[in-house]
Amino acid sequence: MPAQNAIPPVSQKISNIGVIGAGAMGHGIAQVFAQAGFHVKLNDVSLSFIEGGMKRIDSNLSRSVEKRRISDSQKMEIISRLSPTPDLADFSDRQFVVEAVLEKIDTKKTVFKKLDEVCSKSSILASNTSSIPITELAALVSNPGRVAGMHFFNPVPVMKLVEIVEGLQTSPETSATIRDLSLELGKTPVLVKDSPGFISNRIVCPMINEAIFTLQEGIASKEDIDTVMKLGMNHPMGPLELADFVGLDIVLDVLEVLYHEFQDPKFRAAPLLRKMVRAGYLGRKTKRGFYDYGAL
Ligand code: 3HC
Repeated sequence: MPAQNAIPPVSQKISNIGVIGAGAMGHGIAQVFAQAGFHVKLNDVSLSFIEGGMKRIDSNLSRSVEKRRISDSQKMEIISRLSPTPDLADFSDRQFVVEAVLEKIDTKKTVFKKLDEVCSKSSILASNTSSIPITELAALVSNPGRVAGMHFFNPVPVMKLVEIVEGLQTSPETSATIRDLSLELGKTPVLVKDSPGFISNRIVCPMINEAIFTLQEGIASKEDIDTVMKLGMNHPMGPLELADFVGLDIVLDVLEVLYHEFQDPKFRAAPLLRKMVRAGYLGRKTKRGFYDYGAL
């Protein structure tokens, strides 16, 4: 007898979105949803943070107007679909929420507990975490099947990938909904089981770490290390430039998670990385990392 085809999971039809965190990732996530026609509420801890995110969205869209990709009126329409709110209680009507708050487990846990109180039990709750276990966040809410990772890449409007991270409890419907949403955003989704660093950071952070060891050992200059990876491997940025771009603190956080979760010394962070984070040289966001961004 021919095997019966499995019935594909039905995704939920989503029209409204909530984004928590208006920083480097959150503002980009809000922008791409609004551009794709969704109504988006954007939250952060203060109105000034949200205004900062809205300014960045405005400037990204102005560039698209200059490049004649969208008209001025389309820009205004996109912006009109974004509603800033500093009060998470306003998320009670959201069907789909993505959090992109600080990459600290306690902060994320507080957000998920609050969302569980505020949102309807059928709403889907996604995290843009780069390293925190989805399974642990899902365990904090009733109906944990509605929790998954929706991992975007920086800069969100440019990068085409979304990792859909399935925690132990994530339902097939939740994954299917995130897959369909990602496609509506013009992104390519890949599915990955909850595992330290998922696919992306498990591979890229050890590469960056190895570049830092290479620098620390005096084998080559930072410029030459980056040149090898740009010209020899066709990477758009060298690994040290990329570390500055992502944030050295984020790279260290991911490496710590990989090291502790796998208990494998191959993931130990380079002492130079640790030292730079201690010095507050976190990359572009502090205007100093492996390179100097004083003039930015
Ligand atoms: N927001 C929106 N758009 C941006 C942007 C930003 N922050 N930065 C650049 N862009 C746009 C520019 O407007 C430009 O668009 P255009 O073609 O319409 O003019 C386009 O991107 C190219 O930009 P530039 O010409 O200024 O510069 P580059 O060609 O050097 O590209 C880059 C910049 C896209 C950032 C490229 O260097 C790149 O792809 N770098 C690698 C980025 C990467 O690896 N990201 C993943 C990081 S890992 C991660 O996010 C996971 C996390 O969990 C750690």
